Amino acid sequence: MQKISGLIEKLAAGNSLSLSEYESLIENRNDEAAKILRGLAVETRQKIYGREVYVRGLIEISNICKNDCFYCGIRHSNKNCDRYRLTPEEILECSSEGYELGFRTFVLQGGEDNFFNDEVLGSIVSKIKSQHPDCAVTLSLGERSFKSYAYLKSCGADRYLLRHETASKEHYKKLHPAEMSWDNRIKCLQDLRSLGYQVGCGFMVGSPFQSNKTLAEDLKFIEEFKPEMCGIGPFIPHKDTPFKNFSAGTLELTCYLLSVIRLIHPPVLLPATTALGTINPMGRELGILAGANVVMPNLSPLSVRKKYELYDNKICTGEESAQCKNCLANRMKKIGYEIVTSRGDFKNF
Ligand code: 5AD
Ligand code: FES
Repeated sequence: MQKISGLIEKLAAGNSLSLSEYESLIENRNDEAAKILRGLAVETRQKIYGREVYVRGLIEISNICKNDCFYCGIRHSNKNCDRYRLTPEEILECSSEGYELGFRTFVLQGGEDNFFNDEVLGSIVSKIKSQHPDCAVTLSLGERSFKSYAYLKSCGADRYLLRHETASKEHYKKLHPAEMSWDNRIKCLQDLRSLGYQVGCGFMVGSPFQSNKTLAEDLKFIEEFKPEMCGIGPFIPHKDTPFKNFSAGTLELTCYLLSVIRLIHPPVLLPATTALGTINPMGRELGILAGANVVMPNLSPLSVRKKYELYDNKICTGEESAQCKNCLANRMKKIGYEIVTSRGDFKNF
């Protein structure tokens, strides 16, 4: 205990630990350490963001994907996946509905679907921005070229989410087919950063072949890259993937890491993810209580919700957008937090 409390103190004071210290912080964790970290994380977040939880309206625009990541339910090789793609008109309708509900950030997320080339996607982004100039548009559409990211930025995209998935090149190879490259993933994150996007990275907790060492590398990566956003949630197996027999990541470790990440990078926008709410009915609440400050209600049309199945038993697939937002608002209220629908930009303090 002595040792771990020393590490926690060092982290809280300097927002940094060495790789081996991060590994030890994970390796030797216990309930007592988690509780202390949670307290420090909540206090740190409170100073910057108060008790406000930002909402982002998630629009799942396509489950068509050219990639074949071993963990993902919408991977190209999954023949059981019922494919769909929203039309540009449907995407604009979703964002208008979201706007009426009070959302001021839209996240367009989808597989790597060639239909959404620069022309098509750029026109959608421009239209959302001209119809709702007070809104932020976040894209989460995978790896694209520098030119493409630059063009989309010029159309008005503000933010981009691209999880790095793992900071270990060796681990990355175990999660992806040979055609995919860790170097390119990292290059994409750097390109996005250099273009002036607010950038989000992130990883799954408990992904197959993850170790405390690879997690320590993830934490070091976050410490150095200082992303504006960081998405972490438990890995959850999907029945039609090569990883179907692996077990899911835990609520306990995910919450522990949320607290650690808050201390590493205090202003980071940190979602309590849908995956966390899927492995435990109180997952998102516990995520917020561990230091997260963002939730992402689903704004996708009801007809496609079940089809965007990255993992088994995903929640929020049967509720209307308004219901989903109200549900989260109530959940946050119950634990003493308030959702706010402002753009919720990163606070560089
Ligand atoms: N379990 C949890 N998260 C997953 N993702 C993909 N598949 C799964 C899964 N089986 C995450 C990846 C991806 C993000 C959109 O969803 O980290 O970057
Ligand atoms: Fe989506 Fe509860 S948050 S239904």
